[in-house]
Amino acid sequence: MELPKQGTDKAALLEDMRKRKQADADWRGARTFSLIYPAGEEVDDLLHDANELYLYENALNPLRFPSLRQMELDVVAMAGGLLHAPAGHGGCMTSGGTESIIMAMKAARDRARAERDVQAPQLLAPVTAHPAFAKAASYLGMEHVQIPIGDDLRADVGAAEKLIGDQTAVVVGSAPNYPFGTVDPIPELSALAAERGISFHTDACLGGFLLPFWEKLDQPVPPFDFRVPGVTTMSADVHKYGYCTKGASVVLHRDEEHLKKYQRFLYADWPGGLYLSFAMAGARPAAPIAAAWAVMNFLGEEGYVKLARRILAARDTIQAGVRSIDGMRVIGEPVMGVFAFTSDKDDVFAIGDVLDEKGWGVDRQNGPDALHVMLSPEHEGVADQLVADLREAAAHHGTSKGKEARYS
Ligand SMILES: Cc1ncc(COP(=O)(O)O)c(C=O)c1O
Repeated sequence: MELPKQGTDKAALLEDMRKRKQADADWRGARTFSLIYPAGEEVDDLLHDANELYLYENALNPLRFPSLRQMELDVVAMAGGLLHAPAGHGGCMTSGGTESIIMAMKAARDRARAERDVQAPQLLAPVTAHPAFAKAASYLGMEHVQIPIGDDLRADVGAAEKLIGDQTAVVVGSAPNYPFGTVDPIPELSALAAERGISFHTDACLGGFLLPFWEKLDQPVPPFDFRVPGVTTMSADVHKYGYCTKGASVVLHRDEEHLKKYQRFLYADWPGGLYLSFAMAGARPAAPIAAAWAVMNFLGEEGYVKLARRILAARDTIQAGVRSIDGMRVIGEPVMGVFAFTSDKDDVFAIGDVLDEKGWGVDRQNGPDALHVMLSPEHEGVADQLVADLREAAAHHGTSKGKEARYS
């Protein structure tokens, strides 16, 4: 497309955009399972207004917009409280899980260089860790070393111990990981790191805003946060189970000094003045900070627990449905409402294709072939329908023919 010579009027443009959107995923009908985390109309309404209020501001310079600075500090403090960060912790907001992870890895790399003279830094992460860690390693000139997982689909601690060495800058565990929803053995992994003065990062991008409320519902939650002494940094996404619109995550350091020494970027040799920044972006949208602050205060602990209860109900219905279908099973022992399921009898991708035709947007993965869901509160209302469609798809269409046709 070329830039049009003349502009188009607003009504025509909006009409065009609405038409374009028709082919997009139907997330409002709770038919998608990742990417968006709908939490109901009231939350939508609040997010809309909070975004609008801060649509134009720039969070680059906190001196110009002190309200934003304070909201960011508040969000970091609230997240720190949820994740039991001790007094003296520090953190900042970023645009999302990937940016939080990149910043934590950069801080770990620089700490390893400064404190242990690590010149060829390695980043050890379980194979199930999010690709953001591979991306961070690639951006930061680190070697990405994968820790294998055991039969329980959690990082293999014995294997990690063999891989850890004098060039290891950071060890990672997920709470939970995306593919199987399992939580790595964080106490054991982080102890290996701590004994050697190595940083340990818990990736709680998914669990950071759900596991604390899962605990309040008396669900089993393995230790994953700053209560585990070896955990030095954490990432937690407000734009996932914090129910904020996109562009909001938190990266936390147990020790604020590490944030200042190894994450912060300070540049004084510029005629434009002193430049200070905590993350990758320079100019930063204000709306995600404002929306994160607003939604966390709007829901409070009570609101988050209520939403967690709805996810739990959806999870129980869908997992029971999966297990009741001949040959079908949930993979591993997922901790929250993020899980994969497969069939030992039928072609699970053929079943997925039928679900697509019925308007569902269930994700696929292939290690092993499986369907994958990431449940949010609105799925409670459609869980029975999903199970019914799954049952129907498995009964009539889950033959191996689908697979042959797809791969031929
Ligand atoms: C476990 C985990 N970590 C990190 C991320 C990256 O988050 P983002 O997509 O916000 O960059 C994701 C995204 O789904 C994730 O599931």
